[in-house]
Amino acid sequence: MGIQSKDLINLDDLSKAEIEEVLTKAREMRMILAKEDKKHPVLKGRSVINLFYENSTRTRSSFEIAGKYLGADVINITASSSSVTKGESLKDTARTLDQMAPDIIVMRHKASGAHEIVAKNVKARVINAGDGTHQHPSQGLLDLLTILTHKGTINGLKVAIIGDILHSRVARSDIWGLKTFGADVWLCAPPTLLPAKVEQLGAKVTYHMEEALNDADVIIMLRIQLERQKNGLFPSVREYAALYGLNNKKLSIAKPDVLVMHPGPINRGVEISSEVADGMASVIEEQVNNGVAVRMALLEIMGGIGK
Ligand code: NCD
Repeated sequence: MGIQSKDLINLDDLSKAEIEEVLTKAREMRMILAKEDKKHPVLKGRSVINLFYENSTRTRSSFEIAGKYLGADVINITASSSSVTKGESLKDTARTLDQMAPDIIVMRHKASGAHEIVAKNVKARVINAGDGTHQHPSQGLLDLLTILTHKGTINGLKVAIIGDILHSRVARSDIWGLKTFGADVWLCAPPTLLPAKVEQLGAKVTYHMEEALNDADVIIMLRIQLERQKNGLFPSVREYAALYGLNNKKLSIAKPDVLVMHPGPINRGVEISSEVADGMASVIEEQVNNGVAVRMALLEIMGGIGK
């Protein structure tokens, strides 16, 4: 069936059936990742440009390795080493790169909405690897895959998303994906870290962590995005950790088989204690592996034959 929309900028660019197709393909890719020989050269002769205007460890390297396992040629461009530092506009950079005939441009940018400008100006299909506080669709997909792997279904699960919701593109993609699959989504943060009109996101909201954790099947912890905060939005990191950090004591409020997730990078001792991050309930490392599988699936579906 493939993905109808030219670009993947928001997770809601995909229908539920398209999300299911990506997840099915990602499960196949996970088997390839478990093999000694991981070359699955369905993208031989295709090319992917990774254009990163913001720092990244997991997302950039997983798109790169995903493309390489599939046999595509992958190049990485970071803002600090590109002509952006010489004053070139985003549109000019995009049009220049498009002349190199890439099939896919994967981009991360600090401005919400930057991807629309690029997508309009290039023939390549554009995948959003994170734009400002707006969307991070491949993270949304890998989070769905991780939950489905453990729980079999998402329908009816209580999922608590806790932390800096205001600045989190992960939360915005996750909320949409989780609701599409029938989860009961709870958002928990201090009032200063929740967006205005938060109720429009269609999730339940609480300032109290205990209420969010009570009977939770899945907990998604978020990092405080200090790089996006202009003024102090909470009194101190210590107080934040005491009220909104996850430790073993608070974890016991959730269901015994709760999953603990985090998109990374984690700040140990702030939003999550080491005992929880490294504990039995944590699937944080598995999310990274699923991230490669999901990105392989997206690249094959969007860049492969008959794309
Ligand atoms: C997230 C991001 O960049 O939005 N990380 C990621 O992609 N793995 C979350 C974060 O930076 O806190």
